[in-house]
Amino acid sequence: MSSFVVVANRLPVDSVTRPDGSHEWVPSPGGLVTALSPVLKEHEGCWVGWPGTTDDTHPLEPFRTEDVILLHPVSLSATDYEEFYEGFSNATLWPLYHDLIVPPIYERTWWHTYREVNLRFAEHAAKVADHGATVWVQDYQLQLVPGILRQLRPDVKIGFFLHIPFPSADLFRQLPWREEVVRGLLGADVIGFHLPSYANNFLSLARQVSGASGSHTGQPDTLTVHGTARMRERNAIVEAPDGRRVHVAAFPISIDIGSMSQPDAQAVADIRRRLGNPRHLFLGVDRLDYTKGILQRLEAVEQLLESGSLDPAETVLVQIATPSRERIAQYRKERRRVEEAVGRINGRFGQLGHPVVHYVHRTVPKSELSACYAAADVMLVTAFKDGMNLVAKEYAAMHPDGSGALVLSEFAGAAEELPESFLCNPHDLESVKRAIYNAVYTLEHQPEEAQRRMRALHTQVHEHDVQLWARSFLSFLKEPA
Ligand code: ADP
Ligand code: G6P
Repeated sequence: MSSFVVVANRLPVDSVTRPDGSHEWVPSPGGLVTALSPVLKEHEGCWVGWPGTTDDTHPLEPFRTEDVILLHPVSLSATDYEEFYEGFSNATLWPLYHDLIVPPIYERTWWHTYREVNLRFAEHAAKVADHGATVWVQDYQLQLVPGILRQLRPDVKIGFFLHIPFPSADLFRQLPWREEVVRGLLGADVIGFHLPSYANNFLSLARQVSGASGSHTGQPDTLTVHGTARMRERNAIVEAPDGRRVHVAAFPISIDIGSMSQPDAQAVADIRRRLGNPRHLFLGVDRLDYTKGILQRLEAVEQLLESGSLDPAETVLVQIATPSRERIAQYRKERRRVEEAVGRINGRFGQLGHPVVHYVHRTVPKSELSACYAAADVMLVTAFKDGMNLVAKEYAAMHPDGSGALVLSEFAGAAEELPESFLCNPHDLESVKRAIYNAVYTLEHQPEEAQRRMRALHTQVHEHDVQLWARSFLSFLKEPA
């Protein structure tokens, strides 16, 4: 039994069986795992989640990773994977919460499986939580868990954090099961979002859809933002249908900057040398997801090469793309379009032995990623919509000396905390091109201004790390302001 339990769809490690039958654990993908792993190491507790495989021929017992975090695996069958994970979570909720970048699919059988799997996670959490424990439920895959857990274990404190955006009430109301989802969330004591705007979207929806009545603490129409000095102080309470007071607040997530070691100068120089010592080294690092705007950034660079604003002989773009949700039609389509664009750009502008775009469709070790961040002149983060975007913060963390520049989408949550980046609107290719060009121009012609900007970004990330995020959320859960 644990007094602190994290419940997330994924465990921090995935079980992988190699073609030769051997088995290994590899780090699982995504920002949620990046952010929560260091938190669990600091706050002793356990993690309930899915081990990333549908092969349950040998049901897994609880185990520890690196002898630190106690993991409780929850299994998913092949049908659960299709209907709960690929279906309802990633073909219904994901596009709906990312402002319909692609059309969400509403499928009743998926919803039924989502409910069943949420029940399974809640029962598991109820089994391992000590009396009066704190249970912290994570993300859109498990929005019914707080409500179910409240029924099973009224003694525990329940927090919920959404790692992706929360859409406006007008969009959310499309969901045929909107009341059930809102009521599920209202089972929590505290519901956290990255940004006040996402929290506000939830508040107006909760009032419209669930009959929950809203009241405010502090000033009217305000929400509390914990852990970010730059944002306005705000706080709100919603009354759940059972009369409990549910606190809704914003807690911008971040990275474990203390554990990220700066790569040595030699490793950084080696990367640049392997890439032909380009004058401009651009970098993109993303899961291969249609929300990330990878194709748009490739097209922006292509047009800058075409117009002569960038010289192909002096320009390299490294795009590292982690494979993600590969059987879902929209992800396959996005991958095809990205790979076509890489081929086209290299065909048009590359030279023998010197492609312009270096494309890696794999997960890369953290040390290599850090060296790439440190080596890159300009980081390209051009998401159409992103809850936060940790990659932007990781890049800033790797530039304590003020070198480099960040091109950042206005539609990434990180833009609220990182205004000194070169902001762009990814829906407008001219805006992306302008931001890239301005970043390059500032680095070359206004080096002091470029340094001022990057230093400000680094300081912001340094002073608002993931430990502050977790402490803010957990202390608020213990004693809501
Ligand atoms: P998301 O959670 O949507 O994937 P984030 O930018 O918030 O997006 O977090 C992505 C995390 O995954 C970051 O910590 C980043 O370093 C990591 N990551 C992304 N691509 C790769 C890759 N190819 N190899 C290793 N880590 C990666
Ligand atoms: C985002 C989501 C996480 C998810 C991660 C990776 O960060 O917010 O909940 O785990 O992407 O996606 P995946 O589908 O591979 O778990």
